[in-house]
Amino acid sequence: MTMSLNELNDHFAIPNIVRFEPGAGGRTVCHITNRYADASIALHGGHVLSYTPKDQHDLLWLSSESSFEQGEPIRGGIPVCWPWFGAHPEDESLPAHGFARRCRWEALGCETLPTGDTQLNLILRDNECTRHCWDYGFELELIVTVGKQLRVDLVMRNTGDTAFTCTAALHTYFDIGDITTTTVDGLDGHTYIDTVGGANTRHQQQGPVTFGGEVDRVYLDTTDTCIIHAPARHRRIEVAKQGSRTTVVWNPWIAKAQRMPDFGDDEYTEMLCVETTNAADDLVELAPGASHTTTAILEAQPGD
Ligand code: BG6
Repeated sequence: MTMSLNELNDHFAIPNIVRFEPGAGGRTVCHITNRYADASIALHGGHVLSYTPKDQHDLLWLSSESSFEQGEPIRGGIPVCWPWFGAHPEDESLPAHGFARRCRWEALGCETLPTGDTQLNLILRDNECTRHCWDYGFELELIVTVGKQLRVDLVMRNTGDTAFTCTAALHTYFDIGDITTTTVDGLDGHTYIDTVGGANTRHQQQGPVTFGGEVDRVYLDTTDTCIIHAPARHRRIEVAKQGSRTTVVWNPWIAKAQRMPDFGDDEYTEMLCVETTNAADDLVELAPGASHTTTAILEAQPGD
């Protein structure tokens, strides 16, 4: 059941902390303000749009050219890619990165935790539209916990009677201020698949990741925390994770930025994606009744 704005506020608003309002393109957005941070989450896509710890700049980047049209994904924030990451393995006519980021999710609950963090639960269930391109019974729950850290849990459940395999990403876009001075620690020594231009060649990371051109890499067999050093924003961002053995690092650089209609030509300088993924051979296989949770935990520290 799709709730109206009034119904959402009647059920889930918390005075001075949580409120549902109309956002860009008429999309419903949940705004959270607590003693630690401000955050906003669109019901469209189950999409975290912003997370701004007190006295800091937004950790997340959102394109000024993003579409907010019905059925289109939002460019920036934390898109939920599911039930496949990237192109569909067999049918490239199906939407890239799955359908979850294109669907409207429903609110399931909202509460203040004993820590003072605020937790919002959203849900997407299989329906006529999802069955059309992926004929399985499922429940996808997004648990967004806003505190000193931003924690996002993506819970995938098989509610049908057929086993399925899926891939996924919490495709986080970070605001790093200046890509040319940004580096990423935590991936040294790991093998990655370089997918720029469809190359799909394997390499080993030596030292921190640096940026001087398009980067599109799937790092394999890593559960490690990444640290993004963003001197232009005077901060470093820790990206910890659970339930994920692959990490994707992406910056489109100049030519790809120009090819994307919902991405400003020069915006590649301001953003970096470090994605908490289940991709490549990190497949999630779910028998009927089984579930898997992929979690991203983000925290900024001043300095750098
Ligand atoms: C990344 C992929 O995860 O997402 C890139 O590695 C892709 O290859 C990028 O270009 C953005 O994808 P989309 O579908 O949001 O344009």
